[in-house]
Amino acid sequence: MKEFLVDTFVHHRTLIIFLHVISAVIWVGGMIAIRFAVHHSLAMIDDPKLKMERALDTLKRFFTIVWPFVVVLIMTAVLMAVGYQFRAAAMDENGNVINEYMMSIYNTVHIKEMIWVIMSINLGAMMFRRHKAEIALRDGNLQRAKDLLEMISKYMVPINITLGVIAIFIGVVLRNVH
Ligand code: HEM
Repeated sequence: MKEFLVDTFVHHRTLIIFLHVISAVIWVGGMIAIRFAVHHSLAMIDDPKLKMERALDTLKRFFTIVWPFVVVLIMTAVLMAVGYQFRAAAMDENGNVINEYMMSIYNTVHIKEMIWVIMSINLGAMMFRRHKAEIALRDGNLQRAKDLLEMISKYMVPINITLGVIAIFIGVVLRNVH
C-alpha cells in the first residue's frame, strides 16, 4: 500500500499538489467570500423570511460545491504525507528519532491533519445546523431558524477560516522543506 502511494505521488506530483492547493482555495476562499461579501449583502434584505430563505439557499449551494474538495484535500494530503516520506526522514524502523529537524516537520504534518479533522467536523456540524434551520423555517419557526444560522456565521465559519489560513501557512512551511 505504502509503495503504491509513494509511486502515485512520484509519478503525479504536480497534479497532486495542484489538486491540494485548488481544494484549499475553493474551501477557504469560498468561506471568506460567503462571510465577508454574501453575508453582508443578504443582511440588506428587509423581509426576514426571504432573508432566511436566501441564506439557507446560499449555504446549501456552497456546502454542495465544497464537500467534494474537502475529500480531495485529504486524499492529496495523504499522498503527500506518505510520498514525501516525512516519517522515514525523522525516525528509524524502531521509532527512534534520527533527525530532530525532520521530526519537527513530521509533527507539523500531524498538526495539519488535526486541522483538517477539526475543519471537517465543523463543516459537518454546519451542514447539519443548516438542515435543521431549513426544517424550522418550513415549520414557520423563523426565530429558531435564525438562531441556528447565527451560530454558523458568528463562530463556525470564522473558526474554519482561521484554521484554513493556519493550514495554508503550514503548507508553505512544508513546501520550503524540499
Ligand atoms: C490533512 C492534512 C494535510 C497534510 C498532510 C498536508 C500536507 C501538505 C504538504 C506536504 C504541503 C507541501 C506541498 C509542496 O511540496 O509544495 C502542503 C501544501 C499546502 N497545503 Fe496542505 N496538508 C494538509 C491539509 C491542508 C489543509 C486543511 C489546507 C487548507 C484548507 C491545506 C492547504 C495547503 C496549501 C494552500 C498548500 C500550498 C502551500 C504552498 O504552495 O506553498 N492543507 N500541504
